[in-house]
This record gives sequence, C-alpha cells and structure tokens, in this order.
Amino acid sequence: MTIVIDVEEVSKQFKIHHERSQSLKERLLHPKSGSTEVFDALQDISFRVSTNETVGILGHNGSGKSTLLKCICGVLQPTSGEIRLRGNLAALLELGAGFQTELSGRDNVYLYGAMLGLSKRHVDAIFDDIVAFSEIEHFIDTQVKFYSSGMYVRLAFAVAVNVDPDILVVDEVLAVGDERFQAKCVDKIRTFQEEGRSILLVTHQADQVRALCDRAIVLDGGLMIANGPVQDSLRIFREHLLEDAVFHDRIGHQADVAIDSITTPSGSFDVRSGAGIHFDVNVSSQSAYSGNFMMEIFTRGGLLVSRSDAHASPVNLKPGLNRIGIDLPQIPLLDGVYDLNVGVVDHHGTVIAWKEQAASIQVTYNGREGGIVELGASIRQL
Ligand SMILES: Nc1ncnc2c1ncn2[C@@H]1O[C@H](COP(=O)(O)OP(=O)(O)OP(=O)(O)O)[C@@H](O)[C@H]1O
Ligand SMILES: [Mg+2]
Repeated sequence: MTIVIDVEEVSKQFKIHHERSQSLKERLLHPKSGSTEVFDALQDISFRVSTNETVGILGHNGSGKSTLLKCICGVLQPTSGEIRLRGNLAALLELGAGFQTELSGRDNVYLYGAMLGLSKRHVDAIFDDIVAFSEIEHFIDTQVKFYSSGMYVRLAFAVAVNVDPDILVVDEVLAVGDERFQAKCVDKIRTFQEEGRSILLVTHQADQVRALCDRAIVLDGGLMIANGPVQDSLRIFREHLLEDAVFHDRIGHQADVAIDSITTPSGSFDVRSGAGIHFDVNVSSQSAYSGNFMMEIFTRGGLLVSRSDAHASPVNLKPGLNRIGIDLPQIPLLDGVYDLNVGVVDHHGTVIAWKEQAASIQVTYNGREGGIVELGASIRQL
C-alpha cells in the first residue's frame, strides 16, 4: 500500500479582525482601530491515508473539518506543517467553495477540468458522462448562481467522480442531495473503493461512516482527538458531543415557569434496558398552571423521531418546584445520540414553558440493523 495523503504537523491560524469603532465616521478617522485575534482552526494535525483506504472525518460544527480538507486540496495554505499528495485529487468542498457562480454549469465543468490539468479534448470526452450523472442537463447552460443547493452538489459530485481521481475528498455535501441522489453517490463511492482509490469523507452521519469508512478521525476545536477504528472514533466523537451539548432555553411563554434541571442516567442507554428521565419545572410566582407535558426526540441530523401527544400527559404545576418523570420502558432506537426537547403546553395549545435540547441521550446498539429504529422484525421464508 502506498501513502497517498501525508499530513504532517499541520496547523492553520486565521486572523480575525474585531472592529472597535462602530460608526462610519470613526472608522474613516481611525481606519486601523480594532484588534486582531489569531485563531487556531487546526493544531498540529498529522495522519496518513493509503491507497484503497476510506477515512471518515468527524467533528462538530466549527471543529476544523472543512479547513483541513481545504488545506489538503490546496485551497488554503497551512500556517505551518506540510501536506504531500500522491496522485490526482478531486474534491467536493463545502457549497460555494468550488464553482465560479457567474459562469454556467458547462463553463465550470471545463474550468474545473483545466484546474486539474485536463485538456479540453479530455473534458469533451467525459462531458456527457458528467451531465448524465448530474441529471441537470436542462440547466447546464444556466449560471451556477441560479442553481439550488441540490443541483450544485449534483454537478460538483458528477465532475469530481468523472475526472478519474486517485483521491476523492468529499465535504459533507452529500447530505444536501435528495435521497435517491445520495444513494447514487454512495454507490459511486463503493465503486471507487473497489477500484482501490482513496477517499476522505466528512460527514455528520454516523451510519455513513460505519458503512463506508475503514477508519475515522475526530476533530475537536482544531485538535485531532482520535484516529482509529470506526467504532472507537464514533464513541469518542459522541462523548465529546455530549459534553459540549448546548443547553439553551427557547421561548419561556410564562416568565414565571422554567424548566430547570434534567436528570438522565449517565453513560449510554442500552436499547433493551429503557430509561428514566426527570425534569424539574419551577414556578416562581404564586400561580398554578395546568396543561400537558410534551416531549420531542430528534436525531442529531435534525430528524424528528417522536413527538408525544399534546393531550395525553396532564400535569398540574404548583408554585415552587414540580418534578416530572418520563419512563421509557424500552428505547427502540439504534446507535446514536438523540436530543430531547421538553415543555408544558396548556389546554389551548399555548406553550407555557419549553426547553430545546433539554437533554441528550446516547443509545448503544450492538446489532447489525441500520437506520434509527429497531423494528425487532423476524424474517423467515414462507
Ligand atoms: N476564512 C476564515 N477566516 C476566519 N475563520 C475561519 C475561516 N474559515 C473557517 N474559520 C473558522 O475556523 C473554524 C473551523 O471552521 P471549519 O469550517 O473548518 O469547521 P467545520 O468542522 O467544517 O464545521 P461544519 O461542521 O460547520 O462544517 C471555525 O471556528 C470557523 O469560524
Ligand atoms: Mg465544514
């Protein structure tokens, strides 16, 4: 196996300028006022990728994933460290970091080909395949700025996979396309794997990492905190997500009602063992409220898994502390981190108190089913 990507002690700093003076007049009088802060987006990152390896890159928003990919693709210059590549690289970076939006799709295909060192004749030869894969033939002569994000990704992916790269770099954008196109991209990635190409894949979807990657890297605040087997990296990624989970209040419709503390069993839930969760709702006035308790469970990707019936769980809130318990006799979810939103809604459907991302639960599932729900199906031949 040959090393095709060699990242050695790479750091990237951004300079962020803070304006001190707000008014235009002040800015004209003191153009250099304000301060410059140096921000470490990547710190001392080293790893290698070999031929025929697919490596996932995980990390929450702002952890440095896109910055790392941009350094690898040469869009950004690392502040220090070195990156060596072997072979051609084709990249699908974040939306907006690829095409010239004033140009048409057609012109962008030729421009991108030229950037990769392909001759016009070579691009002519693959042009129809690119358009066919993207399925946007009607828009190929439209300026890219009028593309929807899905169309943009279709064309970008079609170009990237048709220029015969040794290394394919994909930044999350797969999540933008519709489900059918995503499946087509995943098929193409599988073909690339069979052909022995190397792939770097940034994604927030744990099951995609599990399905496609040989290994995964986890970034956290610009540091590499894991680089190893997919299962290990996913666990480390989750633990960090839970630690950093943002707990914030949404609309407190009644200023005197607040959802205070949440108690969830620590660690991860086993699918079969169920869980009990407690919430404290504090009424800080002498008023009493009655309504229904509500709960929503979301995947980290923002998909609503379940919303409780707004009329099914009556609660009476008295002045002071009210404790509410939720019993989940079993959690028919598969491996993943799920966010809970909780609240109390009065009989007219008005939200009295609400807490977004009030708690996160981590579910560990060791079976082989994919997706988010455990159906417990038994399949037999009839
Ligand atoms: N050109 C820039 N100038 C200043 N700061 C930047 C620049 N590009 C990125 N950053 C900062 O660097 C950090 C890492 O950003 P990056 O886009 O790499 O995160 P990411 O892991 O890709 O996040 P996401 O999951 O949201 O795509 C962020 O705090 C971001 O604000
Ligand atoms: Mg990014």
